[in-house]
Amino acid sequence: MTIKKVGVLGCGLMGSGIAQVSATAGYDVTVMEQDQKFLDKGFSGIEKSLSKFVEKGTLKEPVQTVRSRLKGTTNPQDLADCDIIVEAIIENLPEKKKTFASLDTIVKKGAIFASNTSSISITEVAAATKRPDRFVGLHFFNPVPLMKLVEVVRTIATSDQVFETAYQFGQSLGKIPVRTSDKTGFIVNRLLVPYLLDAVRAYEEGVGSIPDIDNAMKLGCGYPMGPFTLLDFVGLDTTYYITHVMFDEFKEQRFASPPLLKRLVMAGWYGRKTGKGFYDYADPNNPVPQKF
Ligand code: CAA
Ligand code: NAD
Repeated sequence: MTIKKVGVLGCGLMGSGIAQVSATAGYDVTVMEQDQKFLDKGFSGIEKSLSKFVEKGTLKEPVQTVRSRLKGTTNPQDLADCDIIVEAIIENLPEKKKTFASLDTIVKKGAIFASNTSSISITEVAAATKRPDRFVGLHFFNPVPLMKLVEVVRTIATSDQVFETAYQFGQSLGKIPVRTSDKTGFIVNRLLVPYLLDAVRAYEEGVGSIPDIDNAMKLGCGYPMGPFTLLDFVGLDTTYYITHVMFDEFKEQRFASPPLLKRLVMAGWYGRKTGKGFYDYADPNNPVPQKF
């Protein structure tokens, strides 16, 4: 099957990135949000990111050409003729099920449904639709325009043809796909999330300060970002949702939220996107570590 038109659900950190790389790869893209203000914010991020590629001379077409392939909407009917829908809304199972169940009655029958979930069972979301055989996970990485990986997730119900089409779609976006199965966290988050949570536990136990733990992992292991910088970058709300799903699946302490992570989320400090998390981003170019 041929993919020409891409629908993206959510225009936050991930949805805006997925929309951007899809339009850059030549697809017509419609992004759906709950409210115009989220579309405006997401599209302004896309424009900033595209301009960085222009500065580097790596955008093959003029920005306006890429931009002209991107449309925003708050009306699900505008997704009816998409060939693939990639969902990147909040990490919440009832919300994802509700959204896909409703789109199932709107989007043409042959279209593929894909979720960018970090941890939720693809099988469980697919079961809310009448097309579980046409349902996959497409798990991109933040920041989507720069990160090369996409995990392509098959469930026991995904058809071979749909899986291969999704895999090739990932490649067509310039990503390197890996095949994985529907186990919570897939490959990357199965390994990454316990590490990030352990960093918070190490801080809670007084092993080191936030900048010292960050620097230790950057300089000692060659990681591009320390764990607290990465947690703030991913979003503490998203990480907290992920801990619920992963702990519920495995019942292992290493997937449970440390108390401090919960406190930060309850305070509304979600990291970079809200201006405060483990660091304070009053000056985004000079984050100041917090002390708790
Ligand atoms: N779009 C376009 N260009 C961008 C950009 C964006 N969104 N963000 C940064 N850039 C550019 C910068 O302008 C800069 O360009 P120059 O080289 O021309 O100066 C270049 O990319 C490098 O950026 P920085 O100098 O700001 O920072 P960096 O060297 O640290 O690289 C990074 C940035 C690639 C994000 C790097 O820090 C990194 O790899 N961090 C780790 C990210 C990571 O682990 N992501 C996975 C998170 S987990 C996940 O996504 C899964 C989940 O389910 C939670
Ligand atoms: P985000 O909070 O930045 O964006 C989510 C967006 O979805 C918001 O703009 C919200 O308004 C919108 N939204 C919520 N319900 C909606 C609905 N019913 N219809 C349309 N839009 C809706 O979150 P994010 O970080 O972009 O995460 C999105 C998804 O991607 C989550 O499932 C998350 O687990 C996953 N993910 C996140 C990361 C990351 O690093 N943040 C990486 C990989 C995957």
